[in-house]
Amino acid sequence: MPGSGFDDCDRQGSSPRRTLPIHDNRGTGPLSRSSRTKRNNSYNMLQHYIERILRARVYDVAIETPLDQAPILSKRYDNAIYIKREDLQPVFSFKLRGAYNKIASLDPEARKAGVIAASAGNHAQGVALAGQKLGIPALIVMPLTTPDIKVKAVQRRGGETLLRGDSYDEAYDYAIELAHARQLTFVHPYDDPEVIAGQGTIGMEILRQIRPYRPFDDDVHAIFVPVGGGGLIAGIAAYVKFVRPDIQVIGVEPDDADCLNQALLAGERVVLKQVGLFADGVAVKQAGGETFRIARHHVDGVITVNTDEICAAIKDIFDDNRSIAEPAGALGVAGMKKYVEQTGISNRCLIAVESGANINFDRLRHVAERAQVGEQRELLLAVTIPERPGSFLQFCETLGRRGITEFNYRYFSRAAAQVFLGVEITGTGTDRQNLLNQLNEAGYTVTNMTGNELAIDHIRYMVGGHAPCLLDEVVYSFEFPERPGALLKFLAVMGGRWNISLFHYRNHGAAYGRVLMGLQIPHSERQTFRDFLQSMTFAWREETENPAYRLFAGGNET
Ligand SMILES: Cc1ncc(COP(=O)(O)O)c(C=O)c1O
Repeated sequence: MPGSGFDDCDRQGSSPRRTLPIHDNRGTGPLSRSSRTKRNNSYNMLQHYIERILRARVYDVAIETPLDQAPILSKRYDNAIYIKREDLQPVFSFKLRGAYNKIASLDPEARKAGVIAASAGNHAQGVALAGQKLGIPALIVMPLTTPDIKVKAVQRRGGETLLRGDSYDEAYDYAIELAHARQLTFVHPYDDPEVIAGQGTIGMEILRQIRPYRPFDDDVHAIFVPVGGGGLIAGIAAYVKFVRPDIQVIGVEPDDADCLNQALLAGERVVLKQVGLFADGVAVKQAGGETFRIARHHVDGVITVNTDEICAAIKDIFDDNRSIAEPAGALGVAGMKKYVEQTGISNRCLIAVESGANINFDRLRHVAERAQVGEQRELLLAVTIPERPGSFLQFCETLGRRGITEFNYRYFSRAAAQVFLGVEITGTGTDRQNLLNQLNEAGYTVTNMTGNELAIDHIRYMVGGHAPCLLDEVVYSFEFPERPGALLKFLAVMGGRWNISLFHYRNHGAAYGRVLMGLQIPHSERQTFRDFLQSMTFAWREETENPAYRLFAGGNET
């Protein structure tokens, strides 16, 4: 099966049958061009890391986490599926392995001076705990936007916190400055050999923990690893590829934060202009230099997944072991599911790393809502029905006895009405297609909204319907850091210049807020408005042509 790169490891199980729409790194790197020198360099690189991993001091603070069987996933996907439970670490993520190993490797003078890191997330807690355990002062620079709960968590572990900058990049720059000024050791979240080696201990544990899982073939086929800056996958790949080069090491990234995927495609590190924040633990713009050097030789490929697939994976993990993974922590399972669906592989052993569980309780509502869509058990549709007595009933009859998850209907004109509909489906492509055919045959115009972010996050919750007349309206969605007063600040930046004609905001309990906004902007001012947007630090996207907006909220003329 040329091209897929996932075809030659099969022994007893069935081999992958289709070419994957994922980035395959094998065959593109210097190894496959195979000059002997390059091969030797690559081998030396692994050997160097093996030594560091075997020496790594992580078990003073970290536990050897279990490699749990996932019986429900295994049955559903017809493979022996295991989950490496890094969510069970004392700080609920793997990050303390690398942080501790780095800090423990410092000489007495550096230890006395102390360490510094920039992070609003799991790394911050890892560094704080490591510092506390070793009696080394740890200063963590966090962006001003960091939720209080995370600041307090670091302080509870003995870390000193300093809030600076509106973004991670600003906090990072300040931390580097301070490290120079105060002679502190900067503990990088991923791009440091000692950090990578600390994370590599996970690879070592996996290989010695694997147990027969009958009736499946118990030989490991692949390990699926969440990727942010690449420290975790670099460490795991370094160990696994030295000891068991036949095992595939596959990275998983959100499709809107895929810095390693892009780097492997380009053959060099790239800086992403914007990154999606849903999986905040892996929202990284550029892969590390050292992590990329390892990944380009020893990572077999990268799979990207969307928000709904991540949410569905959080639910799958919960169903199997009752743990609640954070979005980044569920990437391994999300990628593994996609891999099985796309390759058709069966009866093999697959391992996914559950890398963390630091999620705010408030976010779970959003996760639960989107998991339905991600599991392909809910279809979101916009359906046009005639506006006459009895037509609504007739429409419901066409749907039959299916479970309805959502039904929004509003009178629009004398001729027709728009229904926004959520329907349960069985998760098979045929059921989805049957329903769409059924509606088409009954004469309804149907638009599938299932993957439409605007529909999922905003339109389904909006009241008010269409604007009554032509408004000269443009519509944009925005993401901005969520903290008390953030919405007000956002409005202050946006609100003064143009009339806001539509607005929807819903707090998802996430670290960022999502706003849908319509503004009345005459054509003559649109360029000025676009220039204005370019100068903003918020992420934005134009939605004026999005069918969800045009069908349910746009001016009557649409
Ligand atoms: C839960 C979780 N998973 C995965 C990652 C990605 O790790 P790396 O940046 O080493 O690729 C992180 C990074 O902080 C994380 O917090």
